[in-house]
Amino acid sequence: MRTSTFTAVAGLCWASATFQSLVAALTVAEINGNRFISEYSGQIVTGVEGLVIAKGPNGIWIRSTTPDDDPTTSEAIYVFGNSVGSKLTVGDLISLDGKVTEYRNNANYMYLTEISSPKNVKVVSSGHTVTPLVIGKDTPSPPTVQYSSLDSGDIYTLPNGVANISEVNPILEPTKYGLDFWESLSGELVTIRKPIAIKTPNKYGDTWVVGDWTATGRNKHGGLTMSEKDANPEAIIIGSPLDGTSNPTTSKMGDQFDDITGIVQHAYGFYSILPLTAVKVTAPASASAPPTSLVSRHHCKALTVGSYNVENLAPNSTHLPQVAAHIVDYLKTPDLLFIQEVQDDTGPTNDDGIVSANATLAALTDAIHSLSGVTYAFTDVEPLANADGGQPGGNIRVAYLYRPDIVSLYEPNRGGPEDATQVNLPSGPKGKLASPTLTFNPGRIEPANPAWTASRKPLAAAWKAKGAKRPFYTVNLHWSSKGGSTSLHGDVRPPMNGAVDARMAQANVTATFIKQILELDPTANVIAAGDFNEFSFVGPMKLFSEISGMVDLDEAAKVPVEERYTYAFDMNAQALDHIYVRTVTSGRPYGMQPDDPSADKEDAKEFNPDGTDPQNKNYM
Ligand SMILES: *[C@@H]1O[C@H](CO)[C@@H](O)[C@H](O)[C@H]1NC(C)=O
Ligand SMILES: *[C@@H]1O[C@H](CO)[C@@H](O)[C@H](O)[C@H]1NC(C)=O
Ligand SMILES: *[C@@H]1O[C@H](CO)[C@@H](O)[C@H](O)[C@H]1NC(C)=O
Ligand SMILES: *[C@@H]1O[C@H](CO)[C@@H](O)[C@H](O)[C@H]1NC(C)=O
Repeated sequence: MRTSTFTAVAGLCWASATFQSLVAALTVAEINGNRFISEYSGQIVTGVEGLVIAKGPNGIWIRSTTPDDDPTTSEAIYVFGNSVGSKLTVGDLISLDGKVTEYRNNANYMYLTEISSPKNVKVVSSGHTVTPLVIGKDTPSPPTVQYSSLDSGDIYTLPNGVANISEVNPILEPTKYGLDFWESLSGELVTIRKPIAIKTPNKYGDTWVVGDWTATGRNKHGGLTMSEKDANPEAIIIGSPLDGTSNPTTSKMGDQFDDITGIVQHAYGFYSILPLTAVKVTAPASASAPPTSLVSRHHCKALTVGSYNVENLAPNSTHLPQVAAHIVDYLKTPDLLFIQEVQDDTGPTNDDGIVSANATLAALTDAIHSLSGVTYAFTDVEPLANADGGQPGGNIRVAYLYRPDIVSLYEPNRGGPEDATQVNLPSGPKGKLASPTLTFNPGRIEPANPAWTASRKPLAAAWKAKGAKRPFYTVNLHWSSKGGSTSLHGDVRPPMNGAVDARMAQANVTATFIKQILELDPTANVIAAGDFNEFSFVGPMKLFSEISGMVDLDEAAKVPVEERYTYAFDMNAQALDHIYVRTVTSGRPYGMQPDDPSADKEDAKEFNPDGTDPQNKNYM
């Protein structure tokens, strides 16, 4: 029952230059309301009562002692004021006046509803017990699939950025949508039982966790993997402890923490829980993922292929030895390796006229050789200086490393930066099917197409494997990055998927080229791999599959959906790097399906490792 009144405030000390309305004796739930933005935003409230449930460096949190039974209205709220907590103790029942404020420090963030400029703070009584709400017991469990009613059922649907939560201000549906769930608990003191870390923390020790509630997408390592239409709103980030202690920065995916009690607060663009004190690891997860179990026969019967984004690799990069060790220890020196983000021989030095990456590639292959004795050859096509985006002066490009004793370029003819390679079908010897050739091998795909402005051009190549009668074809690519994306917890819905239009155009050009090969030889073996900068279930990848007929190797090899990830970002284990293959029902496809009766069972096993896949150890 509402008992508020509206009064003009002329003459009261609240008023600065303007008139503000004054609202008396609202409950905390009434101030919060059942939407994201308070209907009292900007107004002065007086005589708000609440129990002090936690204190932080810049304010306190109070909980109503006269709760309603509406699960959409939070019973707690943040009171912002540096000194408000100085004379208060957790367990005090207080009353205060203040201004209802919606706060954010970035236009893409959601707002935090708070009471600012607290005045007339009075202790009514002291020594009350403060009991946290156990999530999933005293509250519903967090929704596991959808974030917001404004996401059209799929957070990656297109178009994106069509609405802002703060403008639509929908009524909260906490059992359906993750953001609504956490908003309905804004300011509350909660306990997460049996939390598990789902990624390594950031440098401040902020760590994403999931509690003992139902969660979808759990992978074997303890993380939550994103899948089509399910981006894991049940996860929550644990922020800085309120008592000034620090969370560990060395925890990792799968670590078990002690129960966490803290305040639900929107901060730095995410709903988070500010723990009362630092989180503690009680049971660390086992060490990192095992190396690939794929074994090469060093022959066309079974080659190994890998893909690795080497992240701005220059000859003197401090991470070069680690990259070489990963290729040796985890990828087991595949016969053919697609790499991305290879910088030129002088790294990010700007405008020095150097675009060759021969020294960078030689430094990497030398390091691999000294660790393993394996000799790689390499090939790439230099970009035009400063034309392909990335770190200024670095001139990143894609390149291939290959074991020349096992695979070699088929009719090599290295193209230049502006040469567009074309697919040809030469007339074969009488009665024999000729194989398509590439006019430039390796060669760039339509380098002048505007789809590639300030981005990396894909590099196509035709190869001959030892013992093979026919060539196979590869496309190594690195599409435009997701820079400009907004957070899954952000105000903008569906969240902005940065450069998705560029990737759509790039998918079209890349796939159309592959389609040309397959039109000339429908049984050709084709592998497209690299950093697609997109999830396999989002528009550009769907378009790529539709035009090219290629399938994600994870799909072809029936890797469980939960195990399809190459890194963790925010709350999700996910994959932007992929290997796509052409599977054919006759002949011997790459990425064959193990239960395809035409597949050689023994080889199929090698292509279908237990839970790992040949492209893992791809990095963004
Ligand atoms: C959403 O908010 C952002 C930031 O204020 C603004 O740039 C954008 O135009 C808004 N979008 C819509 C659809 O109103
Ligand atoms: C590598 O060399 C470039 C100059 O060629 C220099 O700018 C850069 O700082 C060096 N990086 C490292 C890690 O030594
Ligand atoms: C880099 O190596 C390729 C052969 O792989 C060669 O054709 C090219 O001339 C080399 N570039 C430079 C600048 O030495
Ligand atoms: C792909 O590109 C072609 C050629 O520019 C264009 O006609 C076609 O509409 C594009 N398809 C899509 C789905 O963008």
